[in-house]
Amino acid sequence: MWRGLIEAYRDRLPITEATPVVTLHEGNTPLLPAPVLSARVGADVWLKVEGANPTGSFKDRGMTVAVSKAIEGGDKAIICASTGNTSASAAAYAARAGITCAVLVPQGKIALGKLAQALVHGAKLLQVQGNFDDCLALAGKLAQDFPVALVNSVNIYRLHGQKTAAFEIVEALGDAPDIHCLPVGNAGNISAYWMGYSEDLRDGNATKAPRMYGFQAAGAAPIVTGQMVPEPSTIATAIRIGNPASWTKAVDARDASDGLISAVTDREILSAYRLLAREVGVFVELGSAASVAGLLQQADAGRVPAGSRVVCTVTGHGLKDPEWAISTAPAPLTVANDAIAAARALDLA
Ligand code: F0G
Repeated sequence: MWRGLIEAYRDRLPITEATPVVTLHEGNTPLLPAPVLSARVGADVWLKVEGANPTGSFKDRGMTVAVSKAIEGGDKAIICASTGNTSASAAAYAARAGITCAVLVPQGKIALGKLAQALVHGAKLLQVQGNFDDCLALAGKLAQDFPVALVNSVNIYRLHGQKTAAFEIVEALGDAPDIHCLPVGNAGNISAYWMGYSEDLRDGNATKAPRMYGFQAAGAAPIVTGQMVPEPSTIATAIRIGNPASWTKAVDARDASDGLISAVTDREILSAYRLLAREVGVFVELGSAASVAGLLQQADAGRVPAGSRVVCTVTGHGLKDPEWAISTAPAPLTVANDAIAAARALDLA
């Protein structure tokens, strides 16, 4: 039986006998072949489906470790800034642990499902009149001045938890892929994957490490331009971040892996979102589609060698943002309670 990633990777995490394990049995997510994408780019493409985690995003991997360590250290409360998923995950793990959770989110800029999650799990939620970067600065100050543990990805335990996705991929494929694509926001996840792949290479579990291909939204692409973005803007609210906390780590991962960090437009993100839902059968949130948008973009630019093995992480579940899904799909027809009318409406008759 799968008992969560701390039990699965205990000896490769900063966990001791004294650490009380707070888990919702996260991890062990599907690594799904994507033949439609493989045919499109001429490579062997797989999706790491992180929406299958307990709260619907990869954040649970980091949160199980961060909350377990907070409890071990005697903390009674945690705090985070969030574009939505971190707050949903923190709220759930805090509920599980029986501690208080405070979250700061940018007002009006987080998806409805994520807001619902934080609230239903009982988090104390403040909508801040500012963007994510403002929220993170505020959360940092509060954690410094008051007895509350910060569980954003500046907390190194988060990255240790998140690195386990790379372990799972290496185990499933028998080696590391050639290229790994993922969305980049606060830049913790790309740093965590790189940590995981580097450890696998060091420990002889893999013969190589992949080239890390990270993708920011064009209106929120500080790492691509080398400039902080004071007012980031994108439809992909999860990655609407102008001053990533793990900026340096992400650049190191990019350079050490001979990879790249590039920008994808909202149009490219939306097109990948639709392709994933309609032709691959995987419903992800917009921010998650940035990895696949980036893969398609880089394949068109000739930077995905034929036959190479590629993994794209799709980071969060599409149901996080039902409003967006409904507003971009055709409106459903209404029919009388009648077989002929239904058949006509379905073009069957
Ligand atoms: N994809 C999704 C669905 C996310 O929620 C995030 C980040 C990312 C990608 C980017 O990952 O920040 O490690 O580079 N969400 C954070 C949050 C910022 O508050 O939920 P990153």
